[in-house]
Amino acid sequence: MSEIDAVIERPETTIDGIEYGPLAALIGVWKGDQGVDIAPEPDGTENNPYFETITFEPAKDVENAEEQELVAVRYHQQVTRTSTGKVFHDQVGYWMWDARTRTLMHSFTIPRAVAIVSGAVLTEDQSNNPTPLLKVTAGIDPDWPIAQSPFMAQKAKTLSYECKIKVNGDKMSYAQTTMLDIYGREFEHTDKNALKRVGD
Ligand code: HEM
Repeated sequence: MSEIDAVIERPETTIDGIEYGPLAALIGVWKGDQGVDIAPEPDGTENNPYFETITFEPAKDVENAEEQELVAVRYHQQVTRTSTGKVFHDQVGYWMWDARTRTLMHSFTIPRAVAIVSGAVLTEDQSNNPTPLLKVTAGIDPDWPIAQSPFMAQKAKTLSYECKIKVNGDKMSYAQTTMLDIYGREFEHTDKNALKRVGD
């Protein structure tokens, strides 16, 4: 590979004087129409092609217990089923970064009364990487929990969650796996898409 091929776009990581580290690459409005959702049905599987818009905005910095310093990015993800043109998934939350401990966190909620606090400690290599793999999990390590309503815990329980996002310049791809306990079986509910940045 020549030196020029090896150059990867490094985003400006300081915004309004705040250092966003690996979260800076996310900021902007993203659109993608290559989505594939695999979702549970009582007697099988639904396969739903989708398109979506995800908006990430800087949410400034936060101090916890006068000790932990976080930077945060707020997002809204709106997902539309290609076959009907109707929104069938909506998600709001934050990605957060603790530079001192290299801890990446992703907390969000969906309108089924399910809330996730997922996280991971990035290796030094990943946190210095211009386009790190943002990978977090919940429901596997008890430090990263899932909260859900009594109905969901009984009938459609989220057991675990894993999300991987890769950004390179104006291109993003993600893959997520949500393990469910539903209809008397464990179900691997998956979503993936490739998006382009269409605005700041
Ligand atoms: C692009 C993202 C996602 C899409 C498009 C999506 C879509 C779907 C669809 C189509 C179903 C089947 C039931 C229905 O038609 O509404 C479903 C079920 C479910 N999803 Fe998702 N989902 C996504 C992400 C998530 C995430 C991140 C979670 C939790 C962390 C989640 C939790 C659930 C649960 C608990 C159910 C079972 C409810 C039921 O089928 O009655 N989903 N999802």
